[in-house]
Amino acid sequence: MIEVKDLSKTYIRAGAKSKKTAGSSVAGLKAVTFQVREGEVFGLLGPNGAGKTTVIRHLMGFIKADAGYARIHELDCWHNSKEVKALVGYLPGEMNFLKEMSGLEFLNLMAGMHGDRPVFFQRRAALAEDLDLNLKQPIKKMSKGMKQKLGIINTLMLDAEVLILDEPTSGLDPLMQKVFIDLVLEEKKRGKTILISSHMFPEIERTCDQVGMIRAGELVAVEEIQKLRQEQQRTFEIVVETPEQAEFIFQSGLKVSRVQENQVIVEIQGDLNPLLKTLAQVQVREFTQKMTELEEAFMFFYERGEGFEQGIIPGHV
Ligand SMILES: Nc1ncnc2c1ncn2[C@@H]1O[C@H](COP(=O)(O)OP(=O)(O)OP(=O)(O)O)[C@@H](O)[C@H]1O
Ligand SMILES: [Mg+2]
Repeated sequence: MIEVKDLSKTYIRAGAKSKKTAGSSVAGLKAVTFQVREGEVFGLLGPNGAGKTTVIRHLMGFIKADAGYARIHELDCWHNSKEVKALVGYLPGEMNFLKEMSGLEFLNLMAGMHGDRPVFFQRRAALAEDLDLNLKQPIKKMSKGMKQKLGIINTLMLDAEVLILDEPTSGLDPLMQKVFIDLVLEEKKRGKTILISSHMFPEIERTCDQVGMIRAGELVAVEEIQKLRQEQQRTFEIVVETPEQAEFIFQSGLKVSRVQENQVIVEIQGDLNPLLKTLAQVQVREFTQKMTELEEAFMFFYERGEGFEQGIIPGHV
């Protein structure tokens, strides 16, 4: 449904102040290639300035690639940008609203531009309730998060086949981030094809089938979340009431990496039930999940720009 092939873009630094920097270029994208199948959710994950918005702007037909192409539904996003835009529900990273309007007036305007289908109004009401946004408020009195909610309502109410969301949870509080994740899962159930850009691994992990990691314009890895999840190892630190109970966990057949008095470190791959069954037989005082290997790998990726391509996760090269 979405196909990006060898997409490359070099930005020429405009308005350079000295001769030295005049005409210097910035690599926007370097031969980025990935595909999103119909009904799948794809997460584009990477630090600030990595190239996420640049990929999205090519998909929306706002900029022309130097090489390669972006296609949606087999339509070239640059040459057929009008048809592509009609297929896509797009949430920009930064929205410019007509500030004199209320949320409701803005959404009426957008619904009108897309043919005023009754479904828009049903969806709008449900979304405003889920996201807890008062649409009657003037936009100029809305906070950053409220404007983000308005943008999300606008994008989702139009019920497009393909959704392209540029950092959709930016500005949302943790409760609303959770509501948003549920909305994405709902759209996925309805068969939508979705591309989400983000800095945050947890929201990508919860919603996406595949994650593409981008850094300095290069897509350094594309992984299936399901596979990552199955193979990932989770580490738990458990404090029980007595050293005998710690010993009981040690003897239970679980993979215990350390026992110290009444504290145990347990490593679990995949199914959590054996751990929970064992813990049901002791008195647990503290139970903490340490950062997962995956999260550690992502932190490493952010800090050093390496890891995934070197197979830091076992079995992933
Ligand atoms: N119009 C432009 N002119 C020149 N350089 C640009 C332009 N747009 C983006 N860039 C550069 O391209 C690179 C990628 O930017 P992009 O906006 O795609 O990053 P991003 O991954 O979306 O980052 P963020 O997480 O901060 O939104 C950056 O180095 C940026 O400076
Ligand atoms: Mg961006």
